[in-house]
Amino acid sequence: MNRLTLTLLTLLSVSSMMAGDNNPDSVYIRPSYREGTMSMQLDYSIDKKHWTHVSYTIFNSDYGPWGSQKKLHFVALRYDGKKYYTEFIPSLNDPQVAISESENLYLWKPQDYPVLSAADFEAKKAELAAASKNNVLCIPYRDLVALLQRAKLAGLNAQDEKDNVIGSDHVSKLAKDFTTTIDVNFADSKAISPNLYGIFFEDISYAADGGLYAELIQNRDFEYTANDHKGWNAQTAWQLKGNGTEWKINTADPIHSNNAHYSELVTTTPGAQLINEGFDGIPLKAKAKYDLSFFLRGSGKVKVSLVSNGQALASATFSTNNKGWKQQKVVFTPTASADKATLVIEPLNAGMIDIDFVSLFPQETFKGHKNGLRKDLAQLIADLHPRFVRFPGGCATHGQGINNIYHWQASVGPLWERQPDMNIWNYHQTRGLGFYEYFQYCEDIGAEPLPVLAAGVPCQNSWKGGNGQQGGIPFEKELNGKPSPYTYNGKPLTMESYLQELIDLIEWANGDAKTSPLARLRAEAGHPKPFNMKYLGIGNEDLISDVFLERYLFLINGVKKAHPEITIVGTVGPFWEGSDYEYGWKYAKENNIEIVDEHYYNSPGWYFHHQDYYDNYSRTGTKVYLGEWASKGNYITNALVEALYLTNVERNADVVVMSSYAPLLAKEGHTSWNPDLIYFNNTELKPTCNYFVHRAFGQNAGDEYVYSNLQAKYNGYDDIYTPGDLALRVRNSVVTDSKTGDIIIKVVSLVAKENKLTVNLGADFDLAAYNSSAQFTLLSADNPNAKRKWDTNETTSVNIGKTFTVTLPSYSVAVLRIQKKTTKGKK
Ligand code: AHR
Repeated sequence: MNRLTLTLLTLLSVSSMMAGDNNPDSVYIRPSYREGTMSMQLDYSIDKKHWTHVSYTIFNSDYGPWGSQKKLHFVALRYDGKKYYTEFIPSLNDPQVAISESENLYLWKPQDYPVLSAADFEAKKAELAAASKNNVLCIPYRDLVALLQRAKLAGLNAQDEKDNVIGSDHVSKLAKDFTTTIDVNFADSKAISPNLYGIFFEDISYAADGGLYAELIQNRDFEYTANDHKGWNAQTAWQLKGNGTEWKINTADPIHSNNAHYSELVTTTPGAQLINEGFDGIPLKAKAKYDLSFFLRGSGKVKVSLVSNGQALASATFSTNNKGWKQQKVVFTPTASADKATLVIEPLNAGMIDIDFVSLFPQETFKGHKNGLRKDLAQLIADLHPRFVRFPGGCATHGQGINNIYHWQASVGPLWERQPDMNIWNYHQTRGLGFYEYFQYCEDIGAEPLPVLAAGVPCQNSWKGGNGQQGGIPFEKELNGKPSPYTYNGKPLTMESYLQELIDLIEWANGDAKTSPLARLRAEAGHPKPFNMKYLGIGNEDLISDVFLERYLFLINGVKKAHPEITIVGTVGPFWEGSDYEYGWKYAKENNIEIVDEHYYNSPGWYFHHQDYYDNYSRTGTKVYLGEWASKGNYITNALVEALYLTNVERNADVVVMSSYAPLLAKEGHTSWNPDLIYFNNTELKPTCNYFVHRAFGQNAGDEYVYSNLQAKYNGYDDIYTPGDLALRVRNSVVTDSKTGDIIIKVVSLVAKENKLTVNLGADFDLAAYNSSAQFTLLSADNPNAKRKWDTNETTSVNIGKTFTVTLPSYSVAVLRIQKKTTKGKK
């Protein structure tokens, strides 16, 4: 039984809650919450005397960061005969009031938080404190019924979430044999998105600095601050050992104002060493080449070495007698490999020197680019065969308050002119991996760039700046001639200037370098040809407040006006349902936004019970980018359920035009979010079992979905034990790829039994046009509760016919690729 049917049956079966002749026309309700907590529920009463509690949250405070805020104070509810209204104080310290309204009591408009003057705030607190006492409302009985039905449905969803899927399969273990047949109907097909599988790269968990970005020196520019991470400063990751040298951080005369700090070493007696620890040490390979560079000023001699276990593996001496900054360079070839080397700078004589921007790069980067990417990691990602890359992040894009919103221009140009910033994930962004490098990587791996920028508001959970949550960048009209309190690059930041940044990005990426100064910057950086950017993401799972909406539409309309050829990807909140989702979709439809970005991190049970989620989406208008999703684990069960869900997404890939697992990368020891697709450290890559599912699907995508009929049987019977259950545990998808002509059949089984699978391609199938054996990729594991690794993970081949049979092990993901012969008869 699918979720929709179940929902309808549930709603029909709640007979005690039906509004019928026997029920009153009206009922009393009152708010039920505890002062200073997050969630708001209700009690109801027929006689205003005896009350029943409804254990269902009608809204939460959504103000400020998780944990310390998101609180309700003095909640007042009102009903005017048509709509419900609420006002409450979200924080006793911030002069703001939360407001929201609802047409039905269960779906509340995302909250807005108008700022009040100190006097108005005191008056509002007093007004709401009074109104929230004995706050009893008389409402239509039918509204209560609708609310109770919602509550019932939420209960069912909570059960789905808890279903551990594999553990609830009490049936298949009892079966003697398990067979499936897939009848493929080539006459029944539809076009689907050729860009379904992509990646979402966010600078989270050291994904960029210390991760994909191949720079080996940590805090190379002495720009770390306590804003990045409590206790950090410009000297973090460096230490001075020995005596005779005084080490200071100076800002008097930097290389560039965006890179304001540098090190000043005043040596009286040589012998001290300034040491950089790298990101968990500096990994080196014997005989490989490394580009060392740094800026030096002053007079004296320094020795720079790569050192492991007290031994110098490479070193060079530099002399300076410069009043101005001068970049020094040398190529190091370490004599031995090391996992945790350090970089040592040693003044060799008395005197004063300034040092900045100390950089060490392996020459062997992905595709050999200077300032490039870590080769093994970039290749592992490329192996997913992503058709697009969304970057530079989710929360990292819209940032920790308005001042931390990501400005793409801050990430291009000479490295020491880029603007480093704090990273919302509690570390530092050098932006050495910036927009140029992201676009270059997309080009290298044949993926469409999908940059995503803030919708003029910061992260909805920000604790810095912008009047608590979602205080947006001001419009000029709001400033009444006063300068904006926010600046970017030394200039006042307004929505008008921010819109121009978005338009400039398109010009920078796609413009003609001969005529456009912005495009010339791209050409000077090494890419004269346009990057051919087609998509722009605006917003990241934001609260769909009025502040947001005004800015979001302003940006979308402004970009569309300047560049109608760009496809906009909008946003619909952080969950698969709820206010932001509903209102995000409403505005997307009303404003003809081409694609919206859905996010949901749910349990395996949710995915298992929502396989029909997209079957019921409208086929016209706004399309879906399933931009962030994962099933909360790196166990085999998670990987299986993600594969199962993807077969359903493929069936709906006329609506879901893009998808990406999240997060992609996490460095061991610096993981801010679990689970991730790929874990790594300085020397090892640890792709998860989930990774291999996403790789199998990414490498075997199609652009035409072919309907097929799958019949699964235990002991010769269809679902003999639990009707409907088996059909949910074995799913398949058939697609064809017009570029190669190949037919791809994917079968996912969450069943504990080996499966004899018969594929029926039909009597009319032109067998001679295809290779006689199909590529057969198989992932399987005996224990679904195992972590991270499949027992079988291989690609072999199987012979095919118009009808053929293969054996699939228990708990498996199988991809059969039937390859079309090339014109010469060979592949
Ligand atoms: O993927 C991790 C985070 O999840 C993203 O930054 C954000 O968009 C979402 O909340």
